[in-house]
Amino acid sequence: MSEGYPGVVLITGAANGMGANHARALAALGVHVCLADIVDTAPLLAELQASGASVSGHVLDVSDPAAWERVIDEIRSSAGELGGLVNNAGISRRRGLAETTDADWEATLRVNLFGPFYGMRAAAPLMRDSGGGAIVNISSIAGRIGYFSPAYAASKWGLTGLSKSAAGDLARWGIRVNSVHPGLIDTPLVAGADDFIAASVRSIPAGRMGTPDEITDAVLYLLSDRSTYLNGSELTVDGGLISNGLYHRILADTAGEHA
Ligand SMILES: NC(=O)c1ccc[n+]([C@@H]2O[C@H](COP(=O)([O-])OP(=O)(O)OC[C@H]3O[C@@H](n4cnc5c(N)ncnc54)[C@H](O)[C@@H]3O)[C@@H](O)[C@H]2O)c1
Repeated sequence: MSEGYPGVVLITGAANGMGANHARALAALGVHVCLADIVDTAPLLAELQASGASVSGHVLDVSDPAAWERVIDEIRSSAGELGGLVNNAGISRRRGLAETTDADWEATLRVNLFGPFYGMRAAAPLMRDSGGGAIVNISSIAGRIGYFSPAYAASKWGLTGLSKSAAGDLARWGIRVNSVHPGLIDTPLVAGADDFIAASVRSIPAGRMGTPDEITDAVLYLLSDRSTYLNGSELTVDGGLISNGLYHRILADTAGEHA
């Protein structure tokens, strides 16, 4: 077991993207990682097992409450404990209000908001029985500001509120709940959107997209005993985009005129 981290951590959406990055980092620290995804986690499972890591794979559609109960039962009977949960699985529908169909709206809310609700409800009793722990909900900067896709923004703002409420409720069981709000991160989710990325980067004071490792570092911190007094917090990891992006862009577009 790794010093300062829970012995067992469950990550949703672990097969790809940032979830897989969190899984690799935690496994390298000696944490037993439960990889959960709606798609097959076998390739990552094999990769991590080959490196000597302790991992298990779980088929999970986060929008299915019965599937959550099954996965938590699997972890209770195999690992016997759970000290960390990372609600990372998410989907994005980049559509404006008028173009958002009922199906878009429902799917986005069910995965991004209902999923973490079902997950925390199912996992919290096992975490309590394991002596407490930490839940990290992956929201977005779209859960802190207005965003062009209302379904995605509503789901992520909802997740921000859900995280804060759960933080207060679960504190009595020694469980902390915090949310991470990534900005523009270089993952397959944004691949191909070159014009969008180039325009976005002009508004990011850091001058670049973030890397998955920079989000993983925030997740590791919130899972670890270096953050034992953080509860109900929002950790924004965006290179200064939402705090300073507006004036960064204005100054860039009026180069020198403000001086
Ligand atoms: N990439 C970014 O720039 C960015 C920015 C802000 C927030 N986020 C958030 O970070 C999280 C991870 O994003 P990513 O870029 O790694 O995405 P990704 O698309 O690379 O990976 C998402 C994973 O979630 C899984 N998934 C989808 N629906 C699921 C379901 N119903 N049940 C279980 N698993 C499911 C997918 O199979 C996939 O493995 C998401 O919550 C996303 O909203 C991403």
